[in-house]
Amino acid sequence: MGYRITVLAGDGIGPEVVNETLKVLDKVGKKFGREFEYDHCLIGGAAIDATGECLPKETVEKALASDAVLLGAVGGPKWDSQPAANRPEKALLGIRKALNLYANLRPAVVFDELKDASPLKSEILQGGLDILIVRELTGGIYFGEHELKPETDPEIGEVAYDVEEYSQMEIRRIARVAFDLAMKRGKKVTSVDKANVLESSRLWRRTVAEVAKDYPEVELDNLYVDNAAMQLVRAPKQFDVIVTSNIFGDILSDEASQITGSIGMLPSASLTEGSFGMYEPVHGSAPDIAGTGKANPIATILSAAMMLRYSLGLSEEADAIENAVNEFLKAGYRTPDLQASPDHKVVGTEEAGNLIADMI
Ligand code: IPM
Ligand code: MG
Repeated sequence: MGYRITVLAGDGIGPEVVNETLKVLDKVGKKFGREFEYDHCLIGGAAIDATGECLPKETVEKALASDAVLLGAVGGPKWDSQPAANRPEKALLGIRKALNLYANLRPAVVFDELKDASPLKSEILQGGLDILIVRELTGGIYFGEHELKPETDPEIGEVAYDVEEYSQMEIRRIARVAFDLAMKRGKKVTSVDKANVLESSRLWRRTVAEVAKDYPEVELDNLYVDNAAMQLVRAPKQFDVIVTSNIFGDILSDEASQITGSIGMLPSASLTEGSFGMYEPVHGSAPDIAGTGKANPIATILSAAMMLRYSLGLSEEADAIENAVNEFLKAGYRTPDLQASPDHKVVGTEEAGNLIADMI
């Protein structure tokens, strides 16, 4: 029996990078005798255009019935005028919540072949960089109460609020994911909060410390988010696993991705209990380059590798994809987003996909 993968190509460069990724997966299937069945469903702007809704019910149902979800990207200027409740971004939040994907893993890795791409001085990255951000994804201010209150006093104007709220259950489960992963890596967890100001952060810090007791081998460090943002560019090598709330993780993962110099290379996984998960590149839909054939498909291809490893239990196959990507870079190929020198061969989306598939 084959593995059932829900494919959500989405908007902008999403369909282009997903297309190349499916090519690579097909090659893996052939090589290792695995069968991947793809169920293409609608999400984001593409879903709004086809059905009027950013996240059709059918998409959620099909995703829930599959082994894993592969997502391209959603959003674009075309749908900016949609009401807040039906924007493409809302579909992303909706599917995360509907599938209970509370643990978002965002690695920030400097690839050996691309070490000059980082905007940081090479001394700061001496010996490479491998950070894993574990972002809580279904709670906090993203899902707390929101309200826009009408103006009652013209001097004050309208008033809006968004509530940051966390339960110990939510903090405990994300902390466990972080500590479990740290055990398989550098055995260090840095928990990031704003406990000097926020009550929800004080609960976060206290609860993470309780979970840490079950992991005596793992070192726990606590940082305020402002300091963490600074440390990420000052001395990023102090980090192994960073665990943090939804909004802080959103911000810090963008910062960390830029340290690697190549956002087009970074995959992500969004996981729930058990093995099910959704996999997507860290980058967005890049409407400015959609249709030009310039998009780097590697972040999505590496997301598929994470999918094979975490959701389908196919680690040898995942290694084969990661090795093929390394081989592609070693052979001197670069997509336009990666700093190329005169001896590099710059290739577009489709050629990159073909080459990587050939290298499986
Ligand atoms: C991300 C994105 C999303 C988020 C947006 C598009 C809703 O920035 O996945 O990091 O804020 O979570
Ligand atoms: Mg973000």
